[in-house]
Amino acid sequence: MSAPRGPGGGSTRGGGDGMTNFLRAKTNAAGAAERSREHPSRLADPAPFAEDVREEKRLRPVSLSEFVGQPQVREQLGIFLAAASQRGEAMDHLLLHGPPGLGKTTLASIVAHELGVEITHTSGPVIERPGDLVGLLTNIGPRGVLFVDEIHRLSPVIEEYLYSALEDFTLDIMLDRGASARSLKLTLDPFTLIGATTRSGLLSGPMRARFGVSLRMSFYSAEDLMRIVRRSAGILATTVDEDAAFEIARRSRGTPRVANRLLRRVRDFALVKADGAVTLPVTREALRLLEVDERGLDEMDRRMLDALIQRYEGGPVGLQSLAVVLGEDTGTLEDVYEPFLVQEGFIRRTPRGREATRLAYEHLGLAIPARLRGEVVADAAAEPEQPELPLG
Ligand SMILES: Nc1ncnc2c1ncn2[C@@H]1O[C@H](COP(=O)(O)OP(=O)(O)O)[C@@H](O)[C@H]1O
Ligand SMILES: [Mg+2]
Repeated sequence: MSAPRGPGGGSTRGGGDGMTNFLRAKTNAAGAAERSREHPSRLADPAPFAEDVREEKRLRPVSLSEFVGQPQVREQLGIFLAAASQRGEAMDHLLLHGPPGLGKTTLASIVAHELGVEITHTSGPVIERPGDLVGLLTNIGPRGVLFVDEIHRLSPVIEEYLYSALEDFTLDIMLDRGASARSLKLTLDPFTLIGATTRSGLLSGPMRARFGVSLRMSFYSAEDLMRIVRRSAGILATTVDEDAAFEIARRSRGTPRVANRLLRRVRDFALVKADGAVTLPVTREALRLLEVDERGLDEMDRRMLDALIQRYEGGPVGLQSLAVVLGEDTGTLEDVYEPFLVQEGFIRRTPRGREATRLAYEHLGLAIPARLRGEVVADAAAEPEQPELPLG
């Protein structure tokens, strides 16, 4: 398999093809974030499309044995679950971190399911007042799970209240202010907090220390994604050829949510353009129209590499500058786009900023500058994990 030459790798921008419009309209109608409405080919978009919300329920694995991939995470979790069940106690508080769409929310529900307890879903920015927290914590059933998505976005005040709840299952609430201020101590049933974050670096030290277990989710292999595609195809009652499933899998940015999105788009394409069967040629054609290239990069990935190379001579450049050029927020670039580009060896994070690698030039079909000519194209698998660097 060779990387496509020329920017876009099969771009159809400006093409008046009816099918392109159909596919785009589908993505548009999905009502994702405003951004995706302007750029319908951003399949990596972390904000769930409307159809994700509709179909994720069906596609979501319910038990740990159905959860594909992430062998270390599954093994560790299996042990903690078994230990908690044997002791008949609430499981230790659990932190899940990693890029969007890798299965954090899914795992939280699996934990509750395996423990046979209730789960309450909420998210950091939603808990505004101490009263909200009291409401949540007093309503979790015995040994239940409170799932807090985007836990790095909890307000400091709420965090402060949460500490005692996490440590000894008590809450000290201040009633009134000034001279009439009284404090009320509530005793809670033991519970398990599951926090999810795409930015573990933004979590406060004390908050991080409250978690007994911290699990990092990593991108999925093409083989694992293929199993997910086949499983989803089964649930959606769609016939997908073996090689077509692999093609979708290897172009899904290592991300189950993207794999499921691509599968649905390809399925729609097959229905309209072919007899409904998802074959390799049909899949290739659909992915070409969706502007997902040979390496699974979407339009935004390529724009990021292009800006890095054309505007900043390959870097190093700070993420903030890139964000301005791309009209994207720094957080999205850092959480969604960069981790995959780093893992695949297109971008290097250095203390001075982001740099394009030789592979990035090659992928966009651009002349490789002299300083990179001696560089061996990074082997993604052998690449050591990149440290979390401060924004810059
Ligand atoms: N290991 C997995 N096996 C099968 N499907 C998965 C797996 N992980 C995620 N998915 C699918 O991807 C979708 C997105 O996962 P989700 O848990 O919402 O990700 P996150 O919370 O990390 O953003 C889920 O609805 C589910 O269908
Ligand atoms: Mg989630």
